[in-house]
Amino acid sequence: TYLGLDLGTSSAKAALMDADGAVIASRSAPLAVSRPAPGWSEQAPQDWIDACWAALDALAADHPAGMAAVEGIGLSGQMHGATFLGADDRPLRPAILWNDMRSAPDCAALDAAADFRGIGGNLVMPGFTAPKAAWLAREEPGLFEATRRILLPKDYVRLALTGEAVSDMSDASGTLWLDVAARDWSDDLLGATGLDRSHMPALVEGSEVSGRLRPELRARWGMTGAPVVAGGGGDNAAAACGVGALAPGTAFVSLGTSGVLFVAGDAFRPNTAGAVHAFCHAAPGLWHQMGVILAAADALEWLSAITATPAADLIAEAEAADTSGAAPSEALFLPYLSGERTPHNDPAARGAFAGLARASSRADLTRAVLEGVALAFADCQAALGAAGTDFESAWAVGGGARSRLWLRIVAAALDRPLTLPPAGDFGAALGAARLGLCAATGAEATAVCAPPEPAEVIAPEPALVARMAERRGRFRALHPAIAGALE
Ligand code: XUL
Repeated sequence: TYLGLDLGTSSAKAALMDADGAVIASRSAPLAVSRPAPGWSEQAPQDWIDACWAALDALAADHPAGMAAVEGIGLSGQMHGATFLGADDRPLRPAILWNDMRSAPDCAALDAAADFRGIGGNLVMPGFTAPKAAWLAREEPGLFEATRRILLPKDYVRLALTGEAVSDMSDASGTLWLDVAARDWSDDLLGATGLDRSHMPALVEGSEVSGRLRPELRARWGMTGAPVVAGGGGDNAAAACGVGALAPGTAFVSLGTSGVLFVAGDAFRPNTAGAVHAFCHAAPGLWHQMGVILAAADALEWLSAITATPAADLIAEAEAADTSGAAPSEALFLPYLSGERTPHNDPAARGAFAGLARASSRADLTRAVLEGVALAFADCQAALGAAGTDFESAWAVGGGARSRLWLRIVAAALDRPLTLPPAGDFGAALGAARLGLCAATGAEATAVCAPPEPAEVIAPEPALVARMAERRGRFRALHPAIAGALE
């Protein structure tokens, strides 16, 4: 059997997979985010270990035979987070997470200090790791001086699992210290941040062996072999492995807290002008591009919180209005509640409702939120298109993909069919387990990470496509007008 361990932002999840690739069981444990100042987002690395161990302890208690037979483990995790370790590999402070914006003032100077765009393939955005180190150097210089190693979140868990400091190419791409075309650390980019290779973990491909599970942990979880731990991947690359998006042009749309439009490719193709993320994939010889929007399902969560109505009820209300025959309202929503990455790269961008009328209902506002997020995905599609990337259809994943109305609206905004995976588990934990299988057996990731049979295809509906195309023009015009007025 094989294990996939996905360290998310709100939970850690462990999935046990049999040799045929079917998920036997999964367990998860929650994680809290600490927000000590506006725009800050932190977690204590020990909380990651506690949550991962809790999920694995639960699997071991409920599935001892499956756990005894584990031969390979794969890791996936929230990307970009900076875990600063001192000489003894102890965390010097809480880790600074991907959705932490404190480094916004450090980005421009860093961008000017080295060719982050050409070598790193990405704009210096506050979500990425390098500007978080620049912030530490400026605000907590003593801790920066004491830093011996900087690890990504899942790689800190790997250190605890194996004793090895290693990262994989996909997650390492999100640091801004990787030469993404060469799949190696860049001395230039590290130097611009006051660091060198000695601060970085070793690099492996996602499907390669990074180490072996420590004997005491094998004993804790009742494993009879000595499982290898694969490089694994950032959660987006690992999710792509779970749903079989490795072949060039295969894609997924993730309607999670943040939203991701992910397209796999066979070459490094940056488009920094459109704030496209150009990263290595979790399998050798492959890359991927992503458009990332910071509030997707989170925008609906926000509406749910301020209307004191569960998100599922809001969706049901909007779905009922959709079938009532009444024309949808003209209300528009900009989803930039937490700033935006693709295509604006603007941590200061803000959300807005526009076009409200006395008759605007709560259902109209919900619909505007669903459409606003869909239009933000259309902006991502255009930014990827400018980098020469297109896709014929995309898998739809993430919590928001449970809403039929939202899927219809996103399919229309992208004018592409969305495919739904069959019931069950096709997320990052499965992708990680598949990479664990590759590392243990030497099988090719492109063969192991095959797509499932789609359960359903949501085709773009012509009338909705026309509506979303018409609204997109106004959505595009609204952001600069609002940003100008708020300056
Ligand atoms: C990707 C990103 C998020 C995190 C979420 O660039 O920041 O998708 O990986 O875990």
